[in-house]
Amino acid sequence: HDHLLGIEGLKPWEIGFLLDEAERWSDPGNSRRRSGALAGLTQINAFFENSTRTLVSFEIAGKRLGADVVSMAVAASSVKKGETLLDTALTLNAMHPDVIVIRHEAAGAVALIASKVDCPVLNAGDGAHEHPTQALLDALTIRRRKGRLAGLKIAICGDVLHSRVARSNFHLLATMGAEVRAVAPPTLMPVGVERLGVHPYTDMAAGLADVDVVMMLRLQRERMAGAYLPSEREYFRFYGLTEERLSGAADDVLVMHPGPMNRGVEIATAVADDIQRSAITEQVEMGVAVRMACLEVLTRPARGIEWAGNAWSA
Ligand code: CP
Repeated sequence: HDHLLGIEGLKPWEIGFLLDEAERWSDPGNSRRRSGALAGLTQINAFFENSTRTLVSFEIAGKRLGADVVSMAVAASSVKKGETLLDTALTLNAMHPDVIVIRHEAAGAVALIASKVDCPVLNAGDGAHEHPTQALLDALTIRRRKGRLAGLKIAICGDVLHSRVARSNFHLLATMGAEVRAVAPPTLMPVGVERLGVHPYTDMAAGLADVDVVMMLRLQRERMAGAYLPSEREYFRFYGLTEERLSGAADDVLVMHPGPMNRGVEIATAVADDIQRSAITEQVEMGVAVRMACLEVLTRPARGIEWAGNAWSA
C-alpha cells in the first residue's frame, strides 16, 4: 500500500499534485464541500498523543468524504492495560479498515505500524520526526496568500530541535524552492540543519530580516528531558514574536503558527490576533481540505482508481 509517512522523498510534482487536490476541497464559498468518494470505507483514527486540530480535522475530512470514521480513545483503550503498539496495530487491522490515521509520541512508530497492516496509513505526527499533513496545509495557506512557494523567504522560529512540524516544512519548502531559515537558540537548533538546505540563525532580528513568512513554534517541553528549560519570560524576551520584531520583515509578512499556541511565550497576543498578517485560523481551515485530499488520493487504489504515479511506496 501507499502510505503518507512523511514529506521527505516526495517530489515537487507530488507535493504540487496534493496541494492542487486540496485546493479543490478548499474552494472559497464551497468550503463545506462533500463527496461520497469514501462511502462504505472505514477510517480509523488512532491518536496515542494529544491533539485538537489534527484529530478533529481528520474526523471532519473523513465524514465529508462519506467514510465511516472511528476514532479510538487511547486513554480508554487497552493500551492502558499494557497491550503493545504492534498488538494494537494487528487488532485494528483485523477489523479491516480501509485507511488508518496515526499519531504517536515515538519517531518511527507510524512507519512500523504501516509495515504491519493491510491498508494505507497516514502519519498524523510521530515524535520529532514528521507531520506531513501539517506541512501540506501550511504550504497551501502560503500558496493561497502569496500565490507561490518558490523564491519566498520563510523563517521557522523557536523550538526547531523538537519540532516535527519544522522538519516536514523544511523538506517541503526546500523541495518547492523557497529560501528557508531556522531561527532558534543554539540549544534548540538541530545539528546539521544546513544539510536540509536550511540557513540557521540564532539571532531573531537577523533571521526575520526581509522575510515573507514567519512560522512560530511552541516550546515543546514534553520532549525536553530537562536539557534546556528556559524560563518563559527569558524565552519571550529573546525569541518571542512581537510587533517590534516583525518590523524588520517584509511589509506584507504572513504570520503562521501550527498551534497549539502559548501566548506570551513564543508569540505576543497582538501579533497572533493581527487580522491582516496572521494566517493562523486559515491554517486550521486548510487542514480539513488537505486531509480530505490525502484521504481521497491514498484510497484511490482500494477504490479501483488509477492515478499518475505511485508517490508513496515508502
Ligand atoms: N498543529 C497540530 O498538530 O495541532 P494538534 O496537536 O492540536 O493536532
